[in-house]
Amino acid sequence: MSNLAIIGTGYVGLTTGAVMAHLGHQVTCADLDPAKVEKLNQAELHIYEPGLRELVVAGLASGRLRFVVGAAEAAEACEFAFLCVQTPQGADGEADLTWVLAAAAELGHIVPPGTVVINKSTVPVGSAARVAAALARPDVTVASNPEFLREGTALADCLNPDRIVVGAPDVAAAQAVAALYDGITAPVVITDVTSAEMIKYASNAFLAVKLSYVNEIAALCERVGADALDVVQGMGFDQRIGKDALKPGPGWGGSCLPKDTAALAHMAATAGAPAGVLQAAMHANNEQRRRVVAKVTAAVPNGLHGARVAVWGLTFKANTDDLRDSPSLAVIQVLQQLGATVVAHDPQVEAAPLEGLLLASEPLLACEQADVLVVLTEWPQFAAIDLAEAAARMTGREIVDARNLLDRSAAVAAGFHYVGLGR
Ligand code: UDX
Repeated sequence: MSNLAIIGTGYVGLTTGAVMAHLGHQVTCADLDPAKVEKLNQAELHIYEPGLRELVVAGLASGRLRFVVGAAEAAEACEFAFLCVQTPQGADGEADLTWVLAAAAELGHIVPPGTVVINKSTVPVGSAARVAAALARPDVTVASNPEFLREGTALADCLNPDRIVVGAPDVAAAQAVAALYDGITAPVVITDVTSAEMIKYASNAFLAVKLSYVNEIAALCERVGADALDVVQGMGFDQRIGKDALKPGPGWGGSCLPKDTAALAHMAATAGAPAGVLQAAMHANNEQRRRVVAKVTAAVPNGLHGARVAVWGLTFKANTDDLRDSPSLAVIQVLQQLGATVVAHDPQVEAAPLEGLLLASEPLLACEQADVLVVLTEWPQFAAIDLAEAAARMTGREIVDARNLLDRSAAVAAGFHYVGLGR
């Protein structure tokens, strides 16, 4: 078992730390925020991720997981240091490496000789060399071990990954990193650092392209009278296509897909390589949000000005509290600009993330006096709500279901005019 330092306690760092402690390693996670660290040591998490708290509790109880302030204490005796800090989107879509390089520079003063520093943050192709320069330690190896976890299913994704990817300058270092995952069954791809970095971007951007494609197919289904749900089901059985990431929705959002797709397009532009497919996917994603707004506008014949819109769901997808780049917020903002009053409910959001947005503590309370109900996040509990009850509270009889979540026949039986996506 190895001594690991994890720098950064966001979705990736915290999940990696908890899973590594679960696998038997001695793990110290560092964050810069003392209040966050104090809470984490009491198993109070600042993010919502199903099952993660339980794993942190178990890690703390086993003595194999602890949280400290700053990289110095975490890394002074480590054999492997994982960089899991944020890489926000900078100008031109380029990933901002400020935090990664600052953490690397700090580690350079601390880590013992022979340490392997591992990039888990999504960093542009070529970043390992920049991290190595910031470390300024020829006796330290820089490896890349991209993370593919999805928010909402982070633990399952970490414990049962589709693959483990490790890039390193030499096979021995890569194998040492891969061995940290002993106990997890998955194909292991060992490669050079640049290719490992590329695998992460190419994978995320592929998902973005796939989703934009599906959303355009759904728009076409509407025009020609096909049902997009049957269409994607029929497509998904083809193993070359796969059934995941095939649901039409209000557009892809979150902390990764938009940022990584923009960063890859930027990398391509810098390298003089074509990125037409990526550009088209990003354009289609903006159009998709616009299409949802158009459906809501069409549902309120007297115009959105002065209308009351009930919204179910604010987070960028279900089972997370993450609002970063949420299509729901993008759609709501436009509805507000068009003069609508928006009342929203989300099971994981307690403070209004937008000015003028009203929050309701229950989904049905959001429906009071509403002209139209718009479903923007696929929280499963919304599907179980009695739509007759929603109708009784609303003024209008219109539903725009941008996730195809509700039971269409139940909505019609409750007196609604139901509009889904691609149907
Ligand atoms: C993504 C990648 O899936 C993951 O491998 C990577 O490590 C981080 O980025 P995440 O951001 O958690 O994970 O979300 P994901 O589940 O991939 O969904 C991304 C967006 O696409 C969301 O807005 C989601 O609502 C949307 N989506 C996803 C759909 O509209 N339809 C689908 O079928 C799947």
